[in-house]
Amino acid sequence: MNETYLLADGFFIPKIGFGTFKLRGQNGARRVEAALANGYRLLDTAFKYDNEGAVGAAIKNSSVPRDQITVTSKLPGCYQRYADAMITVQESIARLGLDYIDVYLIHWPNPAKNLFVEAWQALIDAQKAGLIRSIGVCNFLPEHLERLEKETGVLPVINQIELHPRFNQAAQRAYDRSKNIVTEAWSPLGRGTDLLSNPVLAEIANQHQKSIAQIVLRWHLQLGNLPIPKSENSLRQIENISVFDFSLSEEELQLINAMSMPNGRINNQDPAVYQEL
Ligand code: A2P
Repeated sequence: MNETYLLADGFFIPKIGFGTFKLRGQNGARRVEAALANGYRLLDTAFKYDNEGAVGAAIKNSSVPRDQITVTSKLPGCYQRYADAMITVQESIARLGLDYIDVYLIHWPNPAKNLFVEAWQALIDAQKAGLIRSIGVCNFLPEHLERLEKETGVLPVINQIELHPRFNQAAQRAYDRSKNIVTEAWSPLGRGTDLLSNPVLAEIANQHQKSIAQIVLRWHLQLGNLPIPKSENSLRQIENISVFDFSLSEEELQLINAMSMPNGRINNQDPAVYQEL
């Protein structure tokens, strides 16, 4: 798995990453180390996941060279003030045991607090100081991205959003594309819910002799998304990145696109109102 997307800042990023939410402690570190051994080169953590230590330990124990791994972490809502954000970036780096972080994202806009532009300015300055390579956001709506552009002149290169067949975010993806922002998909498998036994997907999977998870991940890639599936299981980790040897037809893509629902979010986390603390 060495296919990449080109970010607007000139860096390349793997087309699939490994989600680490809930992988914590020594066991979590072993799962992340397995993911590296299984071929993942993009790791997705967050200050708020309380596992930057485990992810850092996995990187240290792995035989994969540091410069071949793209490490992503995220700024929590409680530290969006400029000075807090600057310190939190440093704290994330220390917890990961690294010299720099490849990608740092604002975790949620928290619009009611109205601090995300201040947080963004901190990420811009941390990038200038060499602490972060690429800067981006998560869960930003067009109105939030417009404010970043207008007030700082700098657009994120990534927007990580909830995105799976039940909530396919066509409008947000089109907006991101128009601004040359790569859309990353969180919960790309719908968090392993009933999506993975859906009969429409099962039929397509049967046609291709692939698993339903592989069909969903292939759909993401053909839409231009960057999915970050999480799996504790080594075989499923391998399964989830073994999706570069087949293609879905236009008709199959349309069938999957038709599964989206306006209220398809898993936990009703609407970024216009959701408060991440
Ligand atoms: P497990 O960790 O036991 O593999 P998402 O990435 O959308 O958040 O989904 C993660 C959930 O999906 C986890 O519960 C994970 O369970 C499950 N999962 C991940 N990959 C697969 C797969 N290939 N087949 C079935 N379930 C999967």
